[in-house]
Amino acid sequence: MNLVEIQGVKKHFGEIHAVDGIDMHVKKGEILGLLGPNGAGKSTTISMIATLLEPTEGTILFMGESIQADPKQIQNVLGFVPQEIALYPTLTGKENLQFWGRVYGLRGGELRERISEISKVIGLEERLKDRVDTYSGGMKRRLNIGVALLHKPAFIIMDEPTVGIDPQSRSFILDTVRELRDQGSTVLYTTHYIEEVESLCDRIYIMDHGKIIAEGTKESLTEMIDASEVIRLSVETVDPMLITTLQELKFVENVVVEANSIFLTVKENGNHYQSIMNALKESGTQLKGMDIQKPSLETVFLYLTGRGLRD
Ligand SMILES: Nc1ncnc2c1ncn2[C@@H]1O[C@H](COP(=O)(O)OP(=O)(O)O)[C@@H](O)[C@H]1O
Ligand SMILES: [Mg+2]
Repeated sequence: MNLVEIQGVKKHFGEIHAVDGIDMHVKKGEILGLLGPNGAGKSTTISMIATLLEPTEGTILFMGESIQADPKQIQNVLGFVPQEIALYPTLTGKENLQFWGRVYGLRGGELRERISEISKVIGLEERLKDRVDTYSGGMKRRLNIGVALLHKPAFIIMDEPTVGIDPQSRSFILDTVRELRDQGSTVLYTTHYIEEVESLCDRIYIMDHGKIIAEGTKESLTEMIDASEVIRLSVETVDPMLITTLQELKFVENVVVEANSIFLTVKENGNHYQSIMNALKESGTQLKGMDIQKPSLETVFLYLTGRGLRD
């Protein structure tokens, strides 16, 4: 049985269809990635799973039971790491953990033991006695994760926990997520960083405009695009006529323009370069550079949405 089952779920805020009819499931013991650009509906989706928001329509099951009917079941095993940091800046790291531990019902020796374990997990042992407002962004994030782990949750949801932090804290957090999975927890991880889902996630949903547009492993998603390669042309200015010409080439499946780059998804076989060079020459476009990329999650996203997935 799937740990979580999401069936036909929508969340509308007035005219805004933040989540627009999605089906998803979470398997026990996996790191599941929810990948999408800002505004895709990721936070809204996980807030509904965490019972912080009610769906406008649809059902969410936890262990086969509706969480709308019985929210306690999922709340008891859930650790939720919100996108916004939820800490008291004037308290120390330890005091924050104590405060939240008590909120979770931990007391005395058990609380002390958990705080000591958690501070090792998040790598903040040395700084636990310092006020949170002296922490770096990455340290705050790690403490925020520690807070969510105090009560040993079996299911952890993290909402873009690595946005705007230093690379070291980032890789520390990614390692922590892997350890949690290896110890038997289930993790649902949202991000707009493709590299993170590629290196971290056992399975991935790609979300855009409130809809799930693809699902699979990194490998199955990249196999999905029926092309041997993606050619990137780097140009000074993008001529719309050139784009039309390229789209009409019979070996070209898809053309996406991003800033000064033109991405061509091309079919296998054949020497395409002459036709591409002719098209460039015809439109008088100066080629500044060209490279060839094997299909990756990034090119899958380009292919599906016609847009890049960057900040
Ligand atoms: N409480 C709200 N009221 C109105 N609109 C909202 C609210 N929360 C989110 N939205 C809108 O819903 C869409 C999806 O938002 P969100 O779930 O935060 O996306 P993501 O987490 O992928 O960036 C956005 O257009 C956002 O502005
Ligand atoms: Mg969000």
